[in-house]
Amino acid sequence: MRRLLSAARTAQRRAHAPYSKFQVGAAILTDRGRVIGGCNVENASYGLTNCAERTAIFRIVAEGAGTPTVCLVVGPTIEPLTPCGACRQVLMEFNPEMRIICVGRTGKTAEFTARELLPAAFEGDALNAAEKGE
Ligand code: THU
Repeated sequence: MRRLLSAARTAQRRAHAPYSKFQVGAAILTDRGRVIGGCNVENASYGLTNCAERTAIFRIVAEGAGTPTVCLVVGPTIEPLTPCGACRQVLMEFNPEMRIICVGRTGKTAEFTARELLPAAFEGDALNAAEKGE
């Protein structure tokens, strides 16, 4: 937990958020013991913004760092920052049982699993079912 929080805060300081000024950091622990950080990366074309959680997930995939097991997210608000809808979908893809620890500026936390954050999710097995005509 301490290792994840420290990695998430380091990533948060690196956020590229000149438009919203809302800096977010994430750190994800994988089943191989790797801790991978991510920050939000905004763009002058606003819709191209990538959130901290997705940055961390995409880094894990690109680096072949394993399966995500715990994701800690830290935001600038006092209340713990919970992942946006797009990030929930992406987190689900890689491990529905992943623990998501949300942390506020002063350390207040809230904890969920990826599945709790996205009930009745659209998942890959729907694509397999359609292929089989089910
Ligand atoms: N943001 C994240 O990085 N993660 C979230 O879960 C919520 C929102 C970022 C996107 C944008 O750069 C800024 O926060 C304001 O929405």
